[in-house]
Amino acid sequence: MLNEKREFYLALSIQHLNFERRMNLKLRIWRQRDANSKGALVDYEVKVNPHMSFLEMLDELNETLQQKGQEPVAFDHDCREGICGSCNLFINGRPHGPMQTTTCQLHMRHFHEGETVVIEPWRAKAFPIVKDLIVDRSAFDRIVQAGGYISVNTGSARDANEIPIPKIIADEAFNSAACIACGACVAACKNASAMLFVGAQISKLALLPQGKAERKATGRENGGSDGCGGFWSLLQYRGLLG
Ligand code: SF4
Ligand code: FES
Repeated sequence: MLNEKREFYLALSIQHLNFERRMNLKLRIWRQRDANSKGALVDYEVKVNPHMSFLEMLDELNETLQQKGQEPVAFDHDCREGICGSCNLFINGRPHGPMQTTTCQLHMRHFHEGETVVIEPWRAKAFPIVKDLIVDRSAFDRIVQAGGYISVNTGSARDANEIPIPKIIADEAFNSAACIACGACVAACKNASAMLFVGAQISKLALLPQGKAERKATGRENGGSDGCGGFWSLLQYRGLLG
């Protein structure tokens, strides 16, 4: 019991020490006034707490820039919980950075002292830059408007067991429905293809009986990834090929 207590307080004090620790990083951030201006990478030096999230690190940088009377870096974010898909940043040549998670769930402890971190917006023609790191992803909305919905009035929420669906199919449909429309697949693909996103939108409806009624009108008959030249690189990005 005494040992357990000792370990607990030791862990607490280590946590406290880590909280005080700061890491020096060099940031190279894409700055671009608006869609029509020419952009460039601009260097910044920061001292960061390893427990900060990547977005908190940018918040702190922006506070410093504002205190100096400089323009803060524009970046997109909303939920900061990995569910809205807004925090799309290209970090050190990878969408969302070195971990397989969203930028808002990435923490500074995954970088090391003295590292240079290059931060860019998604690079794809379909996602034009609005300002600095913010891109316009309304192309995804147009894809969903073209067929990623059920047109009948579904009324109020149905009893979960009203239409029995085998668990294996429900799980598959859920995997597709977990797409948060972040656009990382487009940014990762050498052809800037949205096939992974489109495949997810089609599959979640094609797998379930509710989506089958309109499958011919909306092209939901297959999984949506056939014929995509960049599909294997996308699987690689998602860590599915190792
Ligand atoms: S399929 Fe593409 S848009 Fe959807 S969550 Fe995955 S990377 Fe983001
Ligand atoms: S801010 Fe919503 S997923 Fe990152």
